[in-house]
Amino acid sequence: MVQEDLFKKIIAHSKEYGFIFPSSEIYDGLSAVYDYGQNGVELKNNIRRYWWESMVKLNENIVGIDAAIFMHPRTWEASGHVSAFNDPLIDNKDSKKRYRADQLIEDHLQKIDDKIQKEVDKAVQKFGASFDETKFRTTNPRVIENRQKYNEVHTRYISALENDDLKELYQIILDTEIVCPVSGTRNWTEVRKFNLMFSTQLGSVSEEANTIYLRPETAQGIFVNFLNVQKTGRMKIPFGIAQTGKAFRNEIVARQFILRMREFEQMEMQFFIKPGTEMEWYEYWKEKRMKWHKALGLGDNKYRFHDHEKLAHYANAACDIEFEYPIGFKEVEGIHSRTNFDLGNHEKFSGKKIQYFDTEANEGFTPYVIETSIGLDRMFFTVLSNAYVEEKVEWEGSAKEERVVLKLPPELAPVQLAILPLTKKDSLPEKAREILDRMKFDFNCQYEEKDSIGKRYRRQDAIGTPFCITVDHDTLQDNTVTIRYRDTLRQERVTIDRLPEIMGDKVSMKGLLKKL
Ligand code: GAP
Repeated sequence: MVQEDLFKKIIAHSKEYGFIFPSSEIYDGLSAVYDYGQNGVELKNNIRRYWWESMVKLNENIVGIDAAIFMHPRTWEASGHVSAFNDPLIDNKDSKKRYRADQLIEDHLQKIDDKIQKEVDKAVQKFGASFDETKFRTTNPRVIENRQKYNEVHTRYISALENDDLKELYQIILDTEIVCPVSGTRNWTEVRKFNLMFSTQLGSVSEEANTIYLRPETAQGIFVNFLNVQKTGRMKIPFGIAQTGKAFRNEIVARQFILRMREFEQMEMQFFIKPGTEMEWYEYWKEKRMKWHKALGLGDNKYRFHDHEKLAHYANAACDIEFEYPIGFKEVEGIHSRTNFDLGNHEKFSGKKIQYFDTEANEGFTPYVIETSIGLDRMFFTVLSNAYVEEKVEWEGSAKEERVVLKLPPELAPVQLAILPLTKKDSLPEKAREILDRMKFDFNCQYEEKDSIGKRYRRQDAIGTPFCITVDHDTLQDNTVTIRYRDTLRQERVTIDRLPEIMGDKVSMKGLLKKL
């Protein structure tokens, strides 16, 4: 299947099965804003819980907070967001479409890279086992020519970013003859800066009202509470503060479903350390976060690190963990060494001393920070897109049929257990409800009696339920039920008493956390 088609199918599936709806859809939706439906909210809550417990439960030196979305406006001056949280944008005068100038150039560079890769792939096919790729890359004239083109543009691009040179970004777009994907023309406006923060008014009378911002990252709620938490929790460095919550960005190009939203959720942890130890901790958290991702079993080869080419205004080292989505590798999480930029600036802007006193060394200092920052919505899409499978299966002895199944990690599935009476009569519903009443305290269960058992299995496959429990006439005689396993379609007859033990092992968050 073409990957773009797969992307569209997953979006359609998420809507059809109650995972994600466009916001205010009856009014035709709101661009890049989405609502989570009845199944989506469960999956999202489970991912959040996996993150929270891995941070706060498993690390004795990490605690959580829940700061407000609105913050004093000076916060965003201190953090640098008022002056530096900008995207360079450019408009095409013919299509009236707006783009991020940096992304247009990066797409152009990617195309050159793809051309090189195509040459290499062709040569691999032609020469087979005897192929020497390194030699080919350094001697083939077309590869050399394209590599030179790439390097020239890349060098100019990085220098333009580093110097904040909007004119040069514009010139690169002209020189490389980048066209608008919609109109196909090169009729561009100049490149301008666009601040990504949403603002609103605090106070009821407009003349007295203050402009405040909807937070563009949750991190600042942690920095401004550093002293509160450190003192009241008697925290000793190194220690971390974790938080999950909404963040808002007025994204210019927001066309990638929940990968780029205007209102989204972050799960961030700021780890406060002694200056000079940041590279050690940076490596530590890179490894630890990658382990968290891989424990979900989505496929180790689907992840990679990507070092930032241009560091954010606050960082001295930064990388992304990228995941291979149906539309290619994209960032899911960022790990940043933020130095003492934030705490130092909050000290300057607030006039309050924000220091940590090390009693052993008998000295005070402004801690350095390693940040791990993951988008909950992106993580949701990571799990969902990876789980979506169309496959042909043998269906209860009949000919092979196609099914759509979400092979979600069982620990994260919105419904862990579907309890299904074979028919609506002969006291089977009553027996099934008895089982439901026993199981519902420990598991997320769903009871269903409508439609044929086959149809009900299909519906449960489509929402990723790992186990279906079927109650039939034998159940009334011997207290046994059938467990039907989602991925293998295997059926197993077990006594009702054994259900908690069998299910518990497979769906408990504990199993997942123990892998970390
Ligand atoms: N505090 C650091 C920070 O906010 P970031 O790289 O801008 O860093 C962190 O954002 C994570 O938040 C990203 O890795 C991504 O998963 C998520 N994220 C950022 N912008 C997003 C958007 N518009 N929509 C959905 N998720 C987003």
